Amino acid sequence: MLITFEGIEGSGKSTQISRVVQALSNSGRDVIATVEPGGTELGMNLRSILLDSNTGSLDPLAELFLFSAARSELLFEVIKPAIADGKIVLCDRFVDSTLAYQGYGRGLEIEMVAEINRTVCAGVWPNLTIWLDLPVDVGLNRAIGRLNQNNSIEGRFEKEDVLFHTRVQDGFKSIAKQEPDRVKRVDSCESIENVSSKIIQLVNEAIS
Ligand code: TYD
Repeated sequence: MLITFEGIEGSGKSTQISRVVQALSNSGRDVIATVEPGGTELGMNLRSILLDSNTGSLDPLAELFLFSAARSELLFEVIKPAIADGKIVLCDRFVDSTLAYQGYGRGLEIEMVAEINRTVCAGVWPNLTIWLDLPVDVGLNRAIGRLNQNNSIEGRFEKEDVLFHTRVQDGFKSIAKQEPDRVKRVDSCESIENVSSKIIQLVNEAIS
């Protein structure tokens, strides 16, 4: 069972994933949480290239292949073995981020990005995707505030303009429309408690 969490910057994914881990562990489930890009040594190295604001702009195809390389390694080292062990895997971002950011955001051809996603995943696909939806300006302000507070250099995507993030948001919207059985929209403007109880309900339905 693979459950992914998607959304624009500042949509609250990491807070919600910790709550789901807690809820599932409390009910005796074997669960692991991982993150993209990251989760492996290669992934962490690629993360620092991809998210460091000092990296500056990259060729969109080069960016696509770096995210895909990080995912391929994560599948090989972490996700596939965990699924084989019968664990529930929660992943902070996955294939829909690539379609939304590199496809809709950067403007790469959608079908080509989708094909690379399928090739990298080779049969592993999310059983459920929680799309945390909130207005672009709200998410972006939250994310930029958090970066400043933590003195983080991971601001490469936050530096993109509102039009880029709006295209990414539209990407998530159209993915959710195309795959309503897999992708469930949750309004992330509500309180953390309300959002997490909705997510936990969706997760419980998917794993029961
Ligand atoms: P992340 O730390 O997940 O951002 P946040 O916690 O603010 O949501 O950073 C990941 C960034 O990488 C995010 O800006 C989206 C981007 N990204 C892509 O562009 N393509 C991808 O395939 C993935 C996985 C992430």
